[in-house]
Amino acid sequence: MKLQGRLVLLTGASGGIGEALAQELAAQGAHLLLQGRKGAALERLRRELSYPERHQIAIADLCSAADRARLLQHPALDEGLDVLINNAATTQFAWLEDQSAEQVERQLRLNVEAPIQLTRALLPRLRKPAVIMNVGANLGAVGHAGYSVYCASKFALHGFSEALGRELADSGIRVIHFAPRTTRTQLDSEAAYAMNVALGTPIDSPFEVAEYAVITLCNETRRRWLGWPQAMMVRLNALCPWLVDRWLARQRTVIERYARHGLTKGAEHGAE
Ligand SMILES: NC(=O)c1ccc[n+]([C@@H]2O[C@H](COP(=O)([O-])OP(=O)(O)OC[C@H]3O[C@@H](n4cnc5c(N)ncnc54)[C@H](OP(=O)(O)O)[C@@H]3O)[C@@H](O)[C@H]2O)c1
Repeated sequence: MKLQGRLVLLTGASGGIGEALAQELAAQGAHLLLQGRKGAALERLRRELSYPERHQIAIADLCSAADRARLLQHPALDEGLDVLINNAATTQFAWLEDQSAEQVERQLRLNVEAPIQLTRALLPRLRKPAVIMNVGANLGAVGHAGYSVYCASKFALHGFSEALGRELADSGIRVIHFAPRTTRTQLDSEAAYAMNVALGTPIDSPFEVAEYAVITLCNETRRRWLGWPQAMMVRLNALCPWLVDRWLARQRTVIERYARHGLTKGAEHGAE
C-alpha cells in the first residue's frame, strides 16, 4: 500500500514508538488521526509533523467504552479510514503475585479488549483496500517470567491478528501483526531496562522500529518479528519449547531480582 493521502488512525501516538511512527507516516504523505490521553502532547506532536494541517488529534482513554465510542464519532472518520494501527499498550514488569487486580485489569483492557473492540467497530468504515496493523511484541509468542499478564495480552493480540487475517482473506482488508523486541521508550520500568542491560538483551530505538513498521505496512507483510535472535526464538519456542525453558531458566535469578526488588536491589547485586 502507498501511504500518500491515506487516512491512518494511530493509537498511542504520543508514546515512544507511536511518535516515531507518526513522523515516518507523515513523511510518507499519510493523513493522521493521532490518539492518546494527553491533548497537549498530541497537539505538540501534530505541529511537529510534516504538513501539520493534514493531521488531527483524538483524546480518548481506550480502556473506557464511552471514550472509544466518542473516538468513533470523530469527524475525521466520517468518510472512512484506510489504515488502523492498534499501537497503544501498557505493561507491568513484576511477578504475578506482586501485581494488583487493577494492574492486571489495565493490561488486559488496553492491550486486548481495546484493540479488538476498536477493530470490530471500525471494520464497516474501512475503505478497501485497507490495512489493520496490530503492534504486538516478541513476548506475544515467547512467555517470559515477570511478564505473565503482558505476555497473555500480547499472545491474545497475536491470535486475534492471525484469526482475523484468515477471516478477512480476499476481503480487501489486510491484517498485519508487527512485533518489536525491547525498545527504549517509557513503556517499561527502569528496573526492566536495567534487567535487559544485565542480560545483554539488545534494545532498539523507536526510530528503527518505526522504520521497519512502515516498510512492513507498505509491503503488507502479514507477520513481522523484529530482530535476531528474537525472531529465531519465536520459531524455536513453537517447535521445541523445552529448549527455550532451559535457556530462560538460566536467566531466571537475574529476572526475579529485578522484577521483585526493583532497580536498587538489582543494581546493587550487579549483572550476571
Ligand atoms: N517499548 C518496548 O520495549 C516494546 C517492545 C515490544 C513491543 N512494544 C509495543 O509497542 C507499542 C508501543 O509501545 P511504546 O513502547 O511506544 O509505549 P509507550 O511509550 O509507553 O506509549 C504508550 C502509548 O499508549 C498510550 N496510552 C497508554 N494508556 C492509554 C489508555 N488507557 N488509553 C489510550 N492510550 C493510552 C500512551 O499515551 P497517553 O499516556 O498520552 O495516553 C502512549 O501514547 C505497544 O503496543 C507495545 O506493547 C513495545
